[in-house]
Amino acid sequence: MDVRVSVGDIAAWKDEAIVVNLFEGVGRPGGATGAVDKALGGAIGQLIAAGDVTGKFKECFIYPTLGKIPAARVFVLGLGERGKFTVDRIREVSAKAALEARKLKLNSLSTIVHGAGVGGFDLGEAAEAVTEGALLGTYRFARYKTKTEGEESGPDALTIVTPEKRSVREVEKAVGVARATATAVSMARDLINAPSNDKTPRHLADTASAMAKEVNLKCAVYDEKDIQRMGMGALWGVARGSDQPPRFVVLEWWGGPKAQKPIALVGKGITFDTGGISLKPQEGMLGPMWEMKYDMAGAATVFATMRACAELKLPVNVVGIAPLTENMPGGNAQKPGDIVRTIGGKTIEVLNTDAEGRLILADGIGYAMKYDPQVILDVATLTGAAVFALGKKALAVMGTDRKTIRRVLEASQAVGERAWELPLFEEYGEQIKSDFADVKNVGGRPAGAITAAKFLETFADGRPWVHLDIAGPVWNDGAPDAPKKEYHPKGATGVPVRTLVRMLRDWKAA
Ligand code: BES
Ligand code: ZN
Ligand code: ZN
Repeated sequence: MDVRVSVGDIAAWKDEAIVVNLFEGVGRPGGATGAVDKALGGAIGQLIAAGDVTGKFKECFIYPTLGKIPAARVFVLGLGERGKFTVDRIREVSAKAALEARKLKLNSLSTIVHGAGVGGFDLGEAAEAVTEGALLGTYRFARYKTKTEGEESGPDALTIVTPEKRSVREVEKAVGVARATATAVSMARDLINAPSNDKTPRHLADTASAMAKEVNLKCAVYDEKDIQRMGMGALWGVARGSDQPPRFVVLEWWGGPKAQKPIALVGKGITFDTGGISLKPQEGMLGPMWEMKYDMAGAATVFATMRACAELKLPVNVVGIAPLTENMPGGNAQKPGDIVRTIGGKTIEVLNTDAEGRLILADGIGYAMKYDPQVILDVATLTGAAVFALGKKALAVMGTDRKTIRRVLEASQAVGERAWELPLFEEYGEQIKSDFADVKNVGGRPAGAITAAKFLETFADGRPWVHLDIAGPVWNDGAPDAPKKEYHPKGATGVPVRTLVRMLRDWKAA
């Protein structure tokens, strides 16, 4: 969808539809909605009085103008209660309007910037949310559909109409940032939604390296020989059960001052998690096995975030690291009880081959050390336990670096992706002590998300480190407990790409 910015009077604007809004409980609309109401001879006011238009959050009343004004239809979007209004609600209603336009098979629509006038938000921030909502809401994963009748893909164009010429630049800038962010999120969604047979580690590495070329990131891809040669025994232990060779991808963005140590992002890239020899059941407690194609969402998040860094030319130094492998049972697969040695030299007793994410991250984090990073931030669909703790509406944050934890929480709040911190008390470390190696890869059922983080902490070796367990919010299966904002189509949500992009946009040299 093309997003444009124009100066004009929305009440006199010509398009297939114009979008205005209303807070719940408002009897006589003001601002742009008031102007449109006036041009329609008070029709909106009458509809409110009759109870047909209420302003309830995400209500979208469609009024055919039949020639009364240049626009063919007016969408009156409900903003909900004024006291509950947030930037994220702007995203949601904007997605709603675009999806209603799609249902009507419209090619284009025009909108005011919800939240900017009556809503009281900063114009740029609101315009960014309008754009993001429309772009993310109309995202589709249609690559595998051979016939597309009855499946609308539009609208093709969204025009943001602003009354003042002097605000055009600000709105255009916001649209540019939103577009780069939405492109990154869409990239992550495409990768996560893709079936495992079309995103083997080799495929994914190729995609990352093509993307790197396109946006000007440095990229290195290591193969199975490199992985073994570099001593990544934990990654290799997971990979050896598969006929698909693993890959290890490193992306670099040097947009910050030369002297600034990089931020290292490490993403879990399990392109399918069968559990390995500790095989998963067909129907697990948290869903069917096929969904484990999304177990590379951490890696996809890292790729997408790196893409946004380059597209937005962020003034920070960031390294994106992704160990990529399948987790399969096979004649050469690792077995419970095996002991592997990581790149940093520490040894791990593998008591459950299904706790494989922490194994490949141990080597990912270990590799990050080469960069002497100011902080390491890993992203992973790591544990079902994180989902039992927080549900699917929020991701879990844990770590040893207060400052970065705060940055993550603030960024997540700003972009409407919920995050919540779990404690990393020292005592939890008891659960991963091994009789035969430095640590074991399972800590039992109690506090499973925390003991997984404790395990990772071992490999950060005292360096500032933060971990995001995204097992919950990464996927929308449509159920009531799923993350399903109006701008979250079924399947991959793209969480937490926007949180990370926002965090890096707000990063100031410490
Ligand atoms: N990829 C899974 C975690 C997961 C489970 C994500 C359900 C999303 C939904 C991970 O590799 C895994 O299998 N973890 C195990 C760890 C256990 C064996 C200690 C889990 O959470 O059950
Ligand atoms: Zn697993
Ligand atoms: Zn996994």
